[in-house]
Amino acid sequence: MNVIEVKDLSVDYGPVRALDNINLQVEKGEFLGIIGPNGGGKTTLLKVLLGLIKPNHGEVEINFKKPIGYVPQFSHFDREFPISVLDVILLGALEGKIKILHKFKKDQVKKAEEIMKSLGILEFKDRQISQLSGGQLQKVLIARALMVEPEVMILDEPTASLDANSKTEIYNLLKLLNKDKTILVVSHDMGVINSYIDTVACLNRNLHYHGDDTKLDQNVLEKVYGCPVELVAHGPTPHRVLKIHEEDEK
Ligand SMILES: Nc1ncnc2c1ncn2[C@@H]1O[C@H](COP(=O)(O)OP(=O)(O)OP(=O)(O)O)[C@@H](O)[C@H]1O
Ligand SMILES: [Mg+2]
Repeated sequence: MNVIEVKDLSVDYGPVRALDNINLQVEKGEFLGIIGPNGGGKTTLLKVLLGLIKPNHGEVEINFKKPIGYVPQFSHFDREFPISVLDVILLGALEGKIKILHKFKKDQVKKAEEIMKSLGILEFKDRQISQLSGGQLQKVLIARALMVEPEVMILDEPTASLDANSKTEIYNLLKLLNKDKTILVVSHDMGVINSYIDTVACLNRNLHYHGDDTKLDQNVLEKVYGCPVELVAHGPTPHRVLKIHEEDEK
């Protein structure tokens, strides 16, 4: 069953066409990695799925119970905002319905604490978010997205600017969540995501490829990134790792 069906989708920002005639199906339980160069339209696609942007053409069919668990792109998040970890996570339960002096129910606080515990961040509960490391903050944002008990999670570069260990930790966590959730993740860490994802989508205004990552070849990648990329095989079982060159990495 497809949980998401994108049909003939195009999005323009004024004269700029960000997405051009995208067709994409996401199956229930799929772990999809979305790759592509800066400005390729990855965040735009996610925002259309979230209903934050109306497409100029085409449509998106959502075949699951909303809300979506959304982890926004790190750089778009104001981490200096004076708010505690617990409050950031609790705000995830509001689904946009922010009321002045909203009082959180006890069971919501309990739920937030359980999620924090499962992600190993309970000790940071009362800290200001400005006092967290990048990896800790990403976990807080994932915890926040989990408050709505989503069937589908959408994460926009959850491992950007994290070190190798933290990246692996976040992807291990996502793999665990993938046991009962469909996951869409935008990433530039092609080397890392390859061992976790089921399928990969290459986006650069057009959708150049969506399918099994092992069948993704260099020609497609060169077309997407507009420059040579490297494919290397390593590890005990032969599997391919995709490597983009440094200026494309974040
Ligand atoms: N609100 C906006 N108004 C005008 N143009 C926009 C807007 N948001 C994005 N764009 C443009 O649309 C294109 C796609 O942007 P988008 O943010 O979707 O790319 P991206 O693949 O997420 O890039 P990155 O890897 O840098 O996050 C870019 O050319 C960008 O400049
Ligand atoms: Mg983006």
